[in-house]
Amino acid sequence: MKMGIGRFSVSLMFLCIFFISGSLSKLQRLKHPVTKSDGSLSFLVVGDWGRQGEFNQSIVAHQMGIVGEQLDIDFVISVGDNFYEDGLKGETDPAFEASFSHIYTHPSLQKHWYAVLGNHDYRGNVEAQLSHVLTQKDWRWFCRRSFVLSSGMVEFFFVDTNPFVEKYFTDPGNHTYDWSNVLPRDRYISNLLHDLDLAIKKSRATWKFVVGHHGIKTAGHHGVTQELIDQLLPVLEENKVDLYINGHDHCLQHIGTDGETQFLTSGGGSKAWRGDVQPWDPKELKLYYDGQGFMSLHVTRSQVNFVYYDVFGNVLHQSSLSKRSLLL
Ligand SMILES: *[C@@H]1O[C@H](CO)[C@@H](O)[C@H](O)[C@H]1NC(C)=O
Ligand SMILES: *[C@@H]1O[C@H](CO)[C@@H](O)[C@H](O)[C@H]1NC(C)=O
Repeated sequence: MKMGIGRFSVSLMFLCIFFISGSLSKLQRLKHPVTKSDGSLSFLVVGDWGRQGEFNQSIVAHQMGIVGEQLDIDFVISVGDNFYEDGLKGETDPAFEASFSHIYTHPSLQKHWYAVLGNHDYRGNVEAQLSHVLTQKDWRWFCRRSFVLSSGMVEFFFVDTNPFVEKYFTDPGNHTYDWSNVLPRDRYISNLLHDLDLAIKKSRATWKFVVGHHGIKTAGHHGVTQELIDQLLPVLEENKVDLYINGHDHCLQHIGTDGETQFLTSGGGSKAWRGDVQPWDPKELKLYYDGQGFMSLHVTRSQVNFVYYDVFGNVLHQSSLSKRSLLL
């Protein structure tokens, strides 16, 4: 009799654990199938771009097409500030075609585009940018606040970094941000951090990349995002995330210490040449380029290569990471 009760409470406990772990991570998940026979993955990263082709956006797009073809890319990642100045007005805003569909026309760019939102996108109608209506207009478009994308040996954790930034709430200047579905802010942030931490901990991918709009470590105009250093960085460090990839500063940048998370900025999709860079330890600052451009990444089981290009398609910098412990 006593044993029966014990067995009952043990199975109840398992039931509870199953129920809790099944319901905890609310991040949407999707898979991008691996098509190459060696299992490798190639993609481009561009940020801060939607200006109807202006400020060299079209030239960057053209070079992305050429590099995309050379690498036979699987998809493109957008790190936010997709539509300037104030996001999209609605699902029928012609800026969607003028800044996206009619600009990234090269055949090699006719792939899925996985996008997060930037602060400028939050100045418009956020739900419009997340809407399936846009995907019906252009099948490539996939934008969410936060989500997990699995592709073979890589798992990407896309994070909405906008609500972390205090000044958008306390000192928004003349800007209006669309915080519908974000408030209350504290709960949004704590749920997001919790879901992200859980999703990364559960991940069995060889490579773990986190993608957001705002820089954590950056020598660019905006400087480091202290809220992300305080709240997001510990999650990346604890879970040994390989790369953090962002935009926001309109530059190309690589900050990193060997053996730790590398910080890659690809915010050169259109307007650039701000002309300022903040002091940074030169041992860590491997690249700072103030002008336009984009990045490519090529991932195999044992290595990630990342390359930065300017508007002429010239390689500005390249670097790689290896998984040394693979055979242990
Ligand atoms: C376009 O790119 C060229 C080459 O980098 C640069 O000299 C020029 O200033 C850029 N134009 C704009 C508007 O940024
Ligand atoms: C707000 O807009 C007004 C009028 O356009 C301008 O004079 C002022 O400098 C702006 N304030 C900020 C903080 O940008």
